[in-house]
Amino acid sequence: GDETSTSVATQTQEPAAVGAGSVKQQLSKLVTASLRTTVPEVEVEPMVEVCTAKFGDYQCNNAMGLWSRIKGSGTSFKNPNAIGQAIAKNLPPSDIIESTSVAGPGFVNIVLSNSWVAKRIQDMLVNGIKTWAPILPVKRAVLDFSSPNIAKEMHVGHLRSTIIGDTLARMFEFSNVEVLRRNHVGDWGTQFGMLIQYLFEKFPNWEEIGSQAIGDLQTFYKASKHRFDGDPEFKDRAQQAVVRLQGGEERYRAAWNKICEISRNEFDLVYKRLNVKLEEKGESFYNPYIPQVLEELDNKGLIKESEGAKVIFIEGHQIPLIVVKRDGGFNYASTDLAALWYRLNVEKAEWIIYVTDVGQQQHFDMFFSAARMAGWLPDPKEKKFPKTNHVGFGLVLGSDGKRFRTRSTEVVRLIELLDEAKSQSKSELLQRLTENGKIVDWTEEELEKTSEAVGYGAVKYADLKNNRLTNYTFSFEQMLSDKGNTAVYLQYAHARICSIIRKSNKDVEELKMSGAISLDHPDERVLGLYLIRFAEVVEEACTNLLPNVLCEYLYNLSEMFTRFYTNCQVVGSPEETSRLLLCQATAVVMRQCFELLGITPVYKL
Ligand code: ARG
Repeated sequence: GDETSTSVATQTQEPAAVGAGSVKQQLSKLVTASLRTTVPEVEVEPMVEVCTAKFGDYQCNNAMGLWSRIKGSGTSFKNPNAIGQAIAKNLPPSDIIESTSVAGPGFVNIVLSNSWVAKRIQDMLVNGIKTWAPILPVKRAVLDFSSPNIAKEMHVGHLRSTIIGDTLARMFEFSNVEVLRRNHVGDWGTQFGMLIQYLFEKFPNWEEIGSQAIGDLQTFYKASKHRFDGDPEFKDRAQQAVVRLQGGEERYRAAWNKICEISRNEFDLVYKRLNVKLEEKGESFYNPYIPQVLEELDNKGLIKESEGAKVIFIEGHQIPLIVVKRDGGFNYASTDLAALWYRLNVEKAEWIIYVTDVGQQQHFDMFFSAARMAGWLPDPKEKKFPKTNHVGFGLVLGSDGKRFRTRSTEVVRLIELLDEAKSQSKSELLQRLTENGKIVDWTEEELEKTSEAVGYGAVKYADLKNNRLTNYTFSFEQMLSDKGNTAVYLQYAHARICSIIRKSNKDVEELKMSGAISLDHPDERVLGLYLIRFAEVVEEACTNLLPNVLCEYLYNLSEMFTRFYTNCQVVGSPEETSRLLLCQATAVVMRQCFELLGITPVYKL
């Protein structure tokens, strides 16, 4: 395409407009202003993307769409390229932009000013990376994640939900969204009648011996299920026990509490190892709200009788959503409707996000539709919020390509899995340190902390780096490898930058206040531009609920750093100060990525 360059005047600008929001958000503001001048009669959203061609750093793609909207309407523009030219010319003066050019059918290529990029990085070093938080369009979100079931095994699916949900929560929190981290545990339902009745009959003195009576909860669950399935009279008593529990009878409540407490303690072991914070509001919490919520839905004419059950028919679905079972009991769907009502009306959340395996997608589709039919959620064409999203994820597979299990065909015990990751990472660390004769520099505590950070981090990263919808194969060998796109490789990359800075014997705290960054070498510029993309990457990961977007960024950043470090001498060069500051900025951004992924960064390896 033909290239025409326009230099943007910058003299009359206010100083240091480093500004809030991502680079893309800031450029979008400029483009919006230009569009208002260029085509005042049309309302249009700015389209700014990272540039795919070599002519610019970012590009504005509005011209082509605008042309098809206004051609033939007596516009004075001759073609889309002319609109592109006008968009470029009408950009308000700004110290962000060095120059623009218009290519082909009207792409406006934007070259960022080196000094602005450098200033933005230096500003982050001085004022903290929090100044690079993107601006998201919501103030409060509910993240419903982890959510295992009481008395049942917490399996790898719950582990995925925990890891993915925690990362999303961290990214939202970093972006100044208040996040209600909700553990929607399955703590209500018919299985409790069975468990309580079994407890009463097998251990009449359970109140004295407490947790010992139940011992291992999974074994206890199996034993009571066995009894339930094999003894019809016991089954009857168990069913009466549910009624008495739900009626609020003291003794039954106490037994229920005990069972929940044992499960909770087990879940907490996993959360502690993973450093995940959650607030439990289980299914039982919403139970009292169900009748009034169903009444509201009934008043709106949504509830129908079908084969003795109460249901909601939903367009596009063969079977209706059951909200009251034939026996009159509530279920998963009625609980979720009540929980959604609560989250919208009491907690006033604008975005409600559920993290479970893709197998539950239909359930979420259906009750989201029901909520839309009830007018709880706006038509997405008119208003974007409040909104709900199901964040689905695929299976974890074993090396045999089947659902991941341990040797014993039992579902994997999560605690053992995490402990194994730590112990393998520890033995590899020990081996390496011994070989390099460095073992003497390490205290036992450092070894422990580092193996945990590396081991648990490896499990998390192996999960998060894939698009969440795809299945992935669980392999300690792969995730703990120090080559390729792994947490271990990234931890090494980060620790190496820290050691470059340490060995320079310069005080970066001082450098960042007195020195200046310049980006004259092409590899410095590439690294600098990638660093300042951080905010828009977090924004994209949040908007599309895709943690892998951040992993990809982190990995690419480490590659770009390597290229920079290979081609640009740091210590002892005339550019030493500027380059040490670039090292520092890379380390800070990498650490923030680790932080958002729930991985503890390591400074020495
Ligand atoms: N307890 C459910 C399970 O283990 C997950 C709950 C997800 N959250 C929700 N609001 N439905 O599959």
